[in-house]
Amino acid sequence: QEQGERESLFIALNFAKDFFVKNLKTEEGKSIGLSYFKERGFTPSIIEKFDLGYALDGWDHLLKAAKESGFQEDILLKSGLILQKEGDPTRLYDRFRNRVTFTIHNVSGRPIGFGARILTKDKNQPKYINSPETPIYHKSDVLYGMFQAKKAIRDKDNCYLVEGYTDVISLHLSGIENVVASSGTSLTEGQIKLIKRFTNHVTVLYDGDNAGIKASLRGIDLLLEGGLLVKAVVFPDGEDPDSFSQKVGTQAFQDYLEANSRDFIGFKIGLYQDEIQRDPIRKAELIREVVQSIGKIPDPIIRSVYAKEASGLLSIEEEIIHSELNKALLKVQ
Ligand code: CTP
Ligand code: MN
Ligand code: MN
Ligand code: MN
Ligand code: MN
Repeated sequence: QEQGERESLFIALNFAKDFFVKNLKTEEGKSIGLSYFKERGFTPSIIEKFDLGYALDGWDHLLKAAKESGFQEDILLKSGLILQKEGDPTRLYDRFRNRVTFTIHNVSGRPIGFGARILTKDKNQPKYINSPETPIYHKSDVLYGMFQAKKAIRDKDNCYLVEGYTDVISLHLSGIENVVASSGTSLTEGQIKLIKRFTNHVTVLYDGDNAGIKASLRGIDLLLEGGLLVKAVVFPDGEDPDSFSQKVGTQAFQDYLEANSRDFIGFKIGLYQDEIQRDPIRKAELIREVVQSIGKIPDPIIRSVYAKEASGLLSIEEEIIHSELNKALLKVQ
């Protein structure tokens, strides 16, 4: 019974994926959706690889097509593709309208949800509308792009972690395929477990704005607790991996990643470099924060390697780091 429902949901999601992909080839889709993707530098082959599509302008294009193909309303509602009108639940309409669509796949490549981007700069509407949680889409266990990335993650023994759908796609265009997105939310344990199926190295590439950097600091501690080895790259202010790679081009982008990947200790200390030079109190705080992060690493050998590095970068005796570390470790027990 439940298995049958899950399968029906998978089929509905796949139908919607095919529908959105086909829409991109209609006159409306070409002039609005496809030209939007082209303007962002997305090629036909990347559009195909990621099942990018277009949701037509109108209230019920998908609903009608799905019903004609025999889908039941209750499955369409459960799939998150269709909504009930407030105040009149018998009236149904499409969740995704007049937007370009990003198909979210599970690790085996089956569509389980969508993100849909607005085409205008209208600030009164959300930039992205996303599928809700459903029996086949548990957001906390999914990373956007994992299906397209998993082989490269294994081969490179590293996973780049970005914020957005378009960052994943632009990195592929720059020849970097070992990349997944947290889709703008904070990382979860389930997502970290998913990464660990393929590698234990993560390089965090978050947006070069304050929100992005703060999100990366929270995420980094979780990754460390998960036993992953973490690096991070900072982008110039206001750039994200997509905008920056499109701006500087493939080779310069790859070089930038090479030159600016730092392990999480160097990354964290680097963020506060100016402040701590001026302010010894701030420096003391930072030492405690760095020690807290090191304390989250499960492996004692790796912990002591980082303790040594922190001591060098902060020019403070290793014994002090170790004694603070011992305090931090006692606290968690
Ligand atoms: N996001 C979302 N809903 C929003 C804004 C963002 O779900 N209203 C998620 C999306 O997964 C998005 C990610 O957070 O990809 C990162 O957000 P942001 O940096 O604002 O968007 P970009 O991915 O950079 O999108 P674009 O380049 O198209 O502006
Ligand atoms: Mn390894
Ligand atoms: Mn951002
Ligand atoms: Mn962004
Ligand atoms: Mn962006």
